[in-house]
Amino acid sequence: MSEHELRISKIRNGTVIDHIAGGHAPDVLAILGIDSATDEVVSVGMNVPSDRLGYKDVVKIEGRELSQEEVEVISLIAPAASINIIREYDVAEKHRVERPSMVEGVLSCPNRNCITTEDEPVASRFAVLENGVRCAYCDTIIREGLTDHISV
Ligand SMILES: Nc1ncnc2c1ncn2[C@@H]1O[C@H](COP(=O)(O)OP(=O)(O)OP(=O)(O)O)[C@@H](O)[C@H]1O
Ligand SMILES: [Mg+2]
Ligand SMILES: [Zn+2]
Repeated sequence: MSEHELRISKIRNGTVIDHIAGGHAPDVLAILGIDSATDEVVSVGMNVPSDRLGYKDVVKIEGRELSQEEVEVISLIAPAASINIIREYDVAEKHRVERPSMVEGVLSCPNRNCITTEDEPVASRFAVLENGVRCAYCDTIIREGLTDHISV
């Protein structure tokens, strides 16, 4: 390691979300509910040179494993992401995220007249499209700003 390199501490136990498309780390943090008020130990790399992607973002979180729902929403924003579970400093598991055909209960429909947004709401269901998601109840399509519609 030369004097021009900076070593970031390894995490002991937690999760590394790698191969996030450049610029999308803030979306991943939003999905995970990590904002300026967090007390979690998090490191974020943005626009890091990558052989595979050209440039990528990376998020490392100490002491946290992700839920299935969190991984599903991440897959919508970062389809090339890999999830590395770190145990005792080593990569114990590595998965590519998979785009589900349907996401349930994790996004809220922007249509105020949708049955999923009434007083006694039914759980939301969205079909996953090439480029967005479509409400299974009212057919509203969300293409941009998916992270503004997360309800988990
Ligand atoms: N203990 C740790 N603390 C922090 N980050 C880690 C730790 N162990 C691995 N990583 C990071 O997790 C990611 C996956 O690690 P791995 O050793 O599998 O790298 P890799 O061989 O480049 O994997 P890939 O083929 O998925 O790119 C890398 O970004 C690496 O920097
Ligand atoms: Mg790598
Ligand atoms: Zn709807």
